[in-house]
Amino acid sequence: MAKLKSKWVCQSCGYETAGYLGKCPECGGWGTFTEEVQSSLKPQNISPQGILNDVQPSLISDIHIGEEVRVSTNISEFDRILGGGLVQGSIVLIAGDPGIGKSTILLQTSGELAKKGQKILYVTAEESAGQLKLRANRLGVNENNLYIYPQTNLESIREQIDKIQPDTVVVDSIQAIYSQTITSSSGSVSQIRECCNILMQIAKTKNITMLIIGHVTKDGNIAGPKVLEHMVDTVISFEGDKYKSYRILRSMKNRFGNTAEVGIFEMSANGLVEVLNPNQLFLNERSQEAIPGSAIIVTNEGTRPLLVEIQALVGATPYPSPRRVSNGIDYSRLLQILAVLEKRVGLNLSKQDVYVNVMGGIEVDEPSADLGIALAIATCARDVVVDPQTVIIGEIGLSGEIHPVNNLEKRLNEASVSGFKKAIIPYANRDVQHEKIKTVPVKRLMDAISACISPQ
Ligand SMILES: Nc1ncnc2c1ncn2[C@@H]1O[C@H](COP(=O)(O)OP(=O)(O)OP(=O)(O)O)[C@@H](O)[C@H]1O
Ligand SMILES: [Mg+2]
Repeated sequence: MAKLKSKWVCQSCGYETAGYLGKCPECGGWGTFTEEVQSSLKPQNISPQGILNDVQPSLISDIHIGEEVRVSTNISEFDRILGGGLVQGSIVLIAGDPGIGKSTILLQTSGELAKKGQKILYVTAEESAGQLKLRANRLGVNENNLYIYPQTNLESIREQIDKIQPDTVVVDSIQAIYSQTITSSSGSVSQIRECCNILMQIAKTKNITMLIIGHVTKDGNIAGPKVLEHMVDTVISFEGDKYKSYRILRSMKNRFGNTAEVGIFEMSANGLVEVLNPNQLFLNERSQEAIPGSAIIVTNEGTRPLLVEIQALVGATPYPSPRRVSNGIDYSRLLQILAVLEKRVGLNLSKQDVYVNVMGGIEVDEPSADLGIALAIATCARDVVVDPQTVIIGEIGLSGEIHPVNNLEKRLNEASVSGFKKAIIPYANRDVQHEKIKTVPVKRLMDAISACISPQ
């Protein structure tokens, strides 16, 4: 019997070699290679339109497209991150931690789409039909044209798609399905790539919307090859604090809309409920008294400003080298802010541990949060408080200067709705005024510190 050829594939980036490597030369990951047996079948010659031979080049002026059909999911927070609804024939990948609510949101969406008269095929590759029915009962989903199909074989799924002719297919999850044309096990890089390729083909040729669930690895990346993210039209990530009930949906890539948009939900017994005023959710845990080391920032998530509390704790270290811990902000960003505080403000932190936490489990990567982070650290180190009615907005440069931010007016409006009275803003944005909020423009980090702290 002929021996099957094997190859080694990096599970994080998809790099292939003939033999085992300890470190991936492409992504630098250690111990990421697994062996995969190569298929003896020839790969198909395919394009997004189907079989390549059927397609001829055409002049751009000769290409006629129908109007882009967007279908609202009736879940306004979900529509917002999709850019106004699901585009018919597009592929959407939803990724998130185990148990965060991926199946819940897609079952709810399926129910809403079915109510609108769409035919839905929900492929459940991880749970039985009975388990899914239990969840459907809890969510109140019981529509006539919603088909549940417990299946892991992609060829059978394809057959059922041909038979049922659905408008939308949900695949729960891409890691659990396999194609017979590939000999490696389900969840492997080759399987995921092949299955996604075939699903993409089906979506584009039959104009079927595909909603695909993807798992994430321990470090939070979407499991499987990076090409998976390139293949699909939209990538949505599900974030949230496991121990709290709210969940954040964030658009990471969108061929049909704005990215960096967020949708906020609360997990309840009846499923995910939209949170229309998220600031109340993030700020209501805040202590009413002013405490050293707390600052409120207004971060701009997509088109929506969000008020978030930053907390810092600074204390003498018992270790030879002090600890720096960041939760919800980039670690190197924290180190940079600490360096600016030491050099430009003269705050000596070399013998101090510094912990910074973004409250609410949200990730903040917008530079306008810098000033709030710096003030939380500086006030804790000096044991003074930031006025609790003040919001802090500004990006810090390496020489301690404050850079302007975008959409300041929107941020101030949001702060005013939540009852804030004062805002520290970058000097370059000084023309932006607000009738209910007193703005204090600052040029340097030192000015910001003097402007907003008051002795306890
Ligand atoms: N009765 C309930 N009341 C409130 N929340 C519930 C209830 N039942 C389940 N949940 C929530 O639903 C979550 C599971 O949701 P779901 O199965 O959609 O997640 P998932 O992301 O698809 O998980 P997996 O990765 O295992 O497929 C639980 O972690 C829990 O927070
Ligand atoms: Mg699930």
